[in-house]
Amino acid sequence: MYRTHTCGELRLNNAGQQVTLAGWIQRTRKMGGMVFADLRDRYGITQLAFNDGINAELCEQASHLGREFVVQVKGTVNERESKNKNIATGEIEIVVSELNILNEATTPPFTIEDNTDGGDDLRMKYRYLDLRRACVRQNLELRHKMAFEVRRYLDSKGFLEVETPMLIGSTPEGARDFVVPSRMNPGQFYALPQSPQTLKQLLMVSGFDRYFQIVKCFRDEDLRADRQPEFTQIDCEMSFVEQDDIISLFEDMSKHLFKTIKGIEFNEPWQRMTWHDAMKYYGSDKPDLRFDMKFVELMDVMKGYGFSVFDSAEYIGGICAKGAATYTRKQLDQLTEFVKRPQIGAKGLVYARIEADGTVKSSVDKFYTQDVLQQMKAAFNAEPGDLILILSGDNANKTRKQLCELRLEMGSQLGLRDKNKYACLWVVDFPMYEWSEDDQRWYAMHHPFTSPKQEDVPLLETKQLGDVRANAYDMVINGVEVGGGSIRIHDSKLQALIFETLGFTPEKAQEQFGFLMNAFKFGAPPHGGLAYGLDRFVSLFAGLDSIRDCIAFPKNNQGRDVMLDAPSPIDQAQLDELYLDLRPIDKK
Ligand code: AMO
Repeated sequence: MYRTHTCGELRLNNAGQQVTLAGWIQRTRKMGGMVFADLRDRYGITQLAFNDGINAELCEQASHLGREFVVQVKGTVNERESKNKNIATGEIEIVVSELNILNEATTPPFTIEDNTDGGDDLRMKYRYLDLRRACVRQNLELRHKMAFEVRRYLDSKGFLEVETPMLIGSTPEGARDFVVPSRMNPGQFYALPQSPQTLKQLLMVSGFDRYFQIVKCFRDEDLRADRQPEFTQIDCEMSFVEQDDIISLFEDMSKHLFKTIKGIEFNEPWQRMTWHDAMKYYGSDKPDLRFDMKFVELMDVMKGYGFSVFDSAEYIGGICAKGAATYTRKQLDQLTEFVKRPQIGAKGLVYARIEADGTVKSSVDKFYTQDVLQQMKAAFNAEPGDLILILSGDNANKTRKQLCELRLEMGSQLGLRDKNKYACLWVVDFPMYEWSEDDQRWYAMHHPFTSPKQEDVPLLETKQLGDVRANAYDMVINGVEVGGGSIRIHDSKLQALIFETLGFTPEKAQEQFGFLMNAFKFGAPPHGGLAYGLDRFVSLFAGLDSIRDCIAFPKNNQGRDVMLDAPSPIDQAQLDELYLDLRPIDKK
């Protein structure tokens, strides 16, 4: 037997026992006639003690143990003289009588400690060593627990986990596909699923009325902190349900996760906000509601007083930062620089402080009387000590997005985005379509299988596509879109009409989605569902800034796996077998 206990297990009540442990040497230190070593495994760290006076040879051997050596020790559990309150095994140590080196190790390229000296790239290259660090390992443990609780919960509600294929056909909607050449079908390609969307709908046609799958999805899109090219969804679909049924079941599942994993109970139903209100008041379809700071529109109050920036604007709006009137000129200049950065693109920032006596002092005092400024103050319900920040622009949506960035920045600066606080909501009534200026065409905002609201169907006929609302919903936590879904179209005629509005000819729609429209002719039940991003859910629970930290082997922001050095060129023989010729790469 390699071990009788793990390195996280022994306590004072084990004192006197003979035990065998195995693990990695975290570090050793010499003190007088003693050598101490920290032995680590997945479960914790136990101190080993080697006493020169008892066994000089063993002590000598221990003094040569290098970092990350794999060893087995036998010894007696002993109460420690100086206890370490920071670790669970801190009251005991093992007085070692036998040391067996199972494997030596070269010195790792960075220290295997929570506060490591290794930079990002190095840690990713040696990710298997990075994963030895407790703080990284804990994220994977949390991920396991969450996935386990999801399975337990959904099983208790009658859901079946069904696997769907990874090699499917390419669908041009949404992000780009990753494609896989087929050797047996030369010149033809599979695509890796962006999500199992159409397959889960087919399972509904098959009568599996409650499906789920914890499943890998692949999207060839630009990466951000909350995006990976391969990521994991908790993908779900149900038949004979309406939007409310889905929202309430999955809200309950999410609350179950909060309760069992974080010990947090929500007694009230989560807020539901229309997409329209989310955009109007927060400039985002995923508002961070940990703090208020709602937008206030000021067109009526501030336009027409000779301040040309506002007079020519299509939108004037602002936020009120409670208690921030103490912001210095320098801080305000920095905020102005912040909104003027190219990524945000505002032209400038107007600010107003509410003084102790209630008067308003603003950066545009020369254009406005105190009377008008008081009206503005009233629009925000502002009080002495508050700071009002205003943006304007010639495109309302664009300006709202800029104001959204400013709001989030102020939330961060004022410490209002506490990672231990969770503000959850559903955003509902998304628009069905989104216009692309670049492509001069409509796209489905969610995906083309989402149903329009019944009362908006006539707008399809009259081609008022921008006004059609969808039966679509997102679950948002702390400004992160954790999940989203919709009630689907289950009628082949309506599905064909939606494809038409998206610019598909009937032939093209048949070629790409014929399998689905045909299936709908064989008795498709009304159905709907949603998918969560497991990586995002775990990151929120762990308080991480990037989803990379809860993925065992993530890609970097160029989409590379630096440990496996993938992607990489393949042999000419492999290319030949696949009938593939490569063109020279244009170096831009
Ligand atoms: P959607 O595209 O909104 O919907 O994706 C669902 C959820 O998946 C997560 N997600 C991602 N996570 C990490 N990296 C990515 N690149 C990434 N892209 C998406 C998000 C998102 O909310 N088939 C539909 C769902 C449905 O209608 O049932 C779908 O995939 O958390």
